[in-house]
Amino acid sequence: QDRYAVVGNPIAHSKSPAIHTLFAKQTQQKLSYEKILIELGHFEKDVKRFFTSGGKGLNVTVPFKENAFTFPDQLTPRAQLAGAVNTLIQQTDGSILGDTTDGAGLINDLQRNCFLLKNAKILVLGAGGAVRGILEPLLAQQPKEVVIANRTVAKAQMLADIFDNYGNIRACGFDDLTGYEFDTVINGTSASLAGELPPVPESIFANNKNTGAYDMMYSKKLTPFLLWAKQQNVSLLTDGLGMLVGQAAESFQLWRGVMPDITPVIDALRNQ
Ligand code: ATR
Repeated sequence: QDRYAVVGNPIAHSKSPAIHTLFAKQTQQKLSYEKILIELGHFEKDVKRFFTSGGKGLNVTVPFKENAFTFPDQLTPRAQLAGAVNTLIQQTDGSILGDTTDGAGLINDLQRNCFLLKNAKILVLGAGGAVRGILEPLLAQQPKEVVIANRTVAKAQMLADIFDNYGNIRACGFDDLTGYEFDTVINGTSASLAGELPPVPESIFANNKNTGAYDMMYSKKLTPFLLWAKQQNVSLLTDGLGMLVGQAAESFQLWRGVMPDITPVIDALRNQ
């Protein structure tokens, strides 16, 4: 049986084994997928051992994102642009390829939920690592514009400069959003984790039945950002569970060559 795993520290809470086990069942693939706790400082050694002892692929989560980026023998162009790797693939010659599937997972979930992308005005809140990973895939959808708003404007500006060649993108602070409206608003800040809301003016949502709010975080109840969007009469409200399952599906496809259907897996996780 081909072996796969997710590595991190802590790792007990990871949903990846449940997700990949459901994918394997659905696509009738024989494989195992486990979670492996790696001690800090042991990433290279443990990951090398996993692959030399027959492992085929890994997902990497916190706090090893930096290691995941520097470890591989090669990186895909999208991983280089994103500055991130979440998937390691052993190639036929034994070398390790690093890729990132977060952006593709997000786009997949946005499309599944009928968010406006092509020709749309898209607002992205936040300018950390998570946001960097989604900008090129978003721009590839040919939106009218992508605006990155962040508490620290210089970080948003840095990202806008990096992705300037990929489409119409600009940066600003939260206050600068007054008077502007967007079709699709994506919260990529980590504010929801702390139960907080990025201080964004109420006017940002276009008055359109297809206007949508997406939070890259997920939780059992509506995140503070989605609750706030609901109060502004936005009806398309989606949290990041579909992005989590979507990025897993993209990894699964890289390893196994088949794309699983994510909807039944999202439903199964929601009902847990
Ligand atoms: P991640 O890997 O999740 O992207 P990160 O790189 O630490 O984590 O980025 C966190 C993002 O959330 C940043 O854009 C941060 O804003 P700053 O760049 O100004 O620090 C944003 N963020 C975190 N807490 C926030 C809050 N309470 N309100 C608004 N933005 C917040």
